[in-house]
Amino acid sequence: MTIRYPNATDAIAAGEGVYAPQADSHLLIEAISLSGAIEGARVLDFCAGTGVVGIAAAMLGARHVTAIDMCRRAVDCCRRNAQTYELDVDVRLGTLVDALDSGPYDVVLCNPPYMPESPGFEQERHAAAIGSPLAWNAGADGRRVLDPLCAQSAALLTPSGSMFIVQSVVADVQQTLQTLNDSGLTAAVIARRELPFGPVMRSRVAWLKRTGRLPVDCGTEEIVVIRGDHQEGGTSG
Ligand SMILES: C[S@@+](CC[C@H](N)C(=O)[O-])C[C@H]1O[C@@H](n2cnc3c(N)ncnc32)[C@H](O)[C@@H]1O
Repeated sequence: MTIRYPNATDAIAAGEGVYAPQADSHLLIEAISLSGAIEGARVLDFCAGTGVVGIAAAMLGARHVTAIDMCRRAVDCCRRNAQTYELDVDVRLGTLVDALDSGPYDVVLCNPPYMPESPGFEQERHAAAIGSPLAWNAGADGRRVLDPLCAQSAALLTPSGSMFIVQSVVADVQQTLQTLNDSGLTAAVIARRELPFGPVMRSRVAWLKRTGRLPVDCGTEEIVVIRGDHQEGGTSG
């Protein structure tokens, strides 16, 4: 199968303090490229960072793309990247409240922070290479952004809209599926990828295993893409 993948996004610039696109960004882009959901859609890229996901959506034929991030540096970076590709992306500084105010959307895309934070975490030394800890730290269970996003999913979407979320298994995939279902969406995992531990994972893997967040014999991290379809829109897959 040929994946319609906007290769130009490989050249997306991150800049200091902004999350440089990683395997999770690319898995989400691959999944939306295959989904057929983007063309002609009004799309929200929530937690936009560099804007790589929203820019890919624009390249895939979205009718309109809004990109929201709570970090000023990310917003400035996202604007610059959209300009570089001469794409009309509506970039906003904001949080979920602003996403709800500007919706509903046909498609919501999100690569949120999802790393559980160990007490006294020490990953900041990696920040210069990867971006800002705000981009990955998400509370003790990794669900600080995931839970409210999933709980508000129906309000963010049009009646036939779809949400695509990428996350690690360390942040409880079942909880994401359940919260989306409870909110009125039909949800399923549509893509998976095994990764070697990156620097942030490595810095807290012992704590993740000790606290039961990761199996003790686990030597890789699995990330998944979850698709939730507003029920009037049919089933996922
Ligand atoms: C993992 S990065 C994803 C960046 C980009 N979408 C990608 O896939 O490469 C997460 C982003 O979420 C932003 N963020 C964190 N918490 C947020 C919140 N509550 N509301 C909006 N943005 C948030 C961070 O500033 C960061 O840019």
